[in-house]
Amino acid sequence: MADQAEKFRILPMRRDDLDAVLAIERAAHRWPWPAQIFIEEFDRSFARVDLLHGQEGVVAFANYWLMHDEVHILNLATAPDVQRRGHGATLLGHVIAFALRHRARCLVLEVRQSNLPAQSLYQKFGFRPVGIRPHYYVENQEDAVVMLRELVAPAYR
Ligand SMILES: CC(C)(COP(=O)(O)OP(=O)(O)OC[C@H]1O[C@@H](n2cnc3c(N)ncnc32)[C@H](O)[C@@H]1OP(=O)(O)O)[C@@H](O)C(=O)NCCC(=O)NCCS
Repeated sequence: MADQAEKFRILPMRRDDLDAVLAIERAAHRWPWPAQIFIEEFDRSFARVDLLHGQEGVVAFANYWLMHDEVHILNLATAPDVQRRGHGATLLGHVIAFALRHRARCLVLEVRQSNLPAQSLYQKFGFRPVGIRPHYYVENQEDAVVMLRELVAPAYR
């Protein structure tokens, strides 16, 4: 019940959010990204890291780039102790709304072939697999599934 009443806000990452983001990154991913990757995002005009804040702090984040008429999702993670409560879906919906506002043609992402929970989430939001990048992930040579969500029918462009 407490969870249902909890208020959430989505805000851009600030420098003093970095520790909270890294804590989620390290807890959620088997091969987490180093801090430097997140720090570099502050200086990229086309990059965004948006955080979902609950009453206890940051619960999830989404990192994405607006590249011309595409939004590329680089990373999406929810703190493991609050997964499966809709936070990933909330942030993904937010990113899709951003893409629509910026008149993007599509959203694209890579996801590990073994990462069925994430693939399930993306499929619920209309992403479909469009290709494989063999051995994309250097740590274990795992293939990436490329997933695409089109926002505008090609015939109208
Ligand atoms: C993928 C991830 C971001 C989902 O976050 P979340 O907050 O748990 O997601 P939600 O609660 O919004 O779940 C939405 C849907 O995703 C799918 N999903 C999420 N976790 C799942 C799981 N463990 N098993 C199967 N499906 C799952 C389901 O379709 C779910 O809908 P449902 O609960 O109605 O069945 C989270 O599992 C995570 O941080 N994983 C580690 C990092 C990662 O792999 N990120 C993706 C990189 S591409």
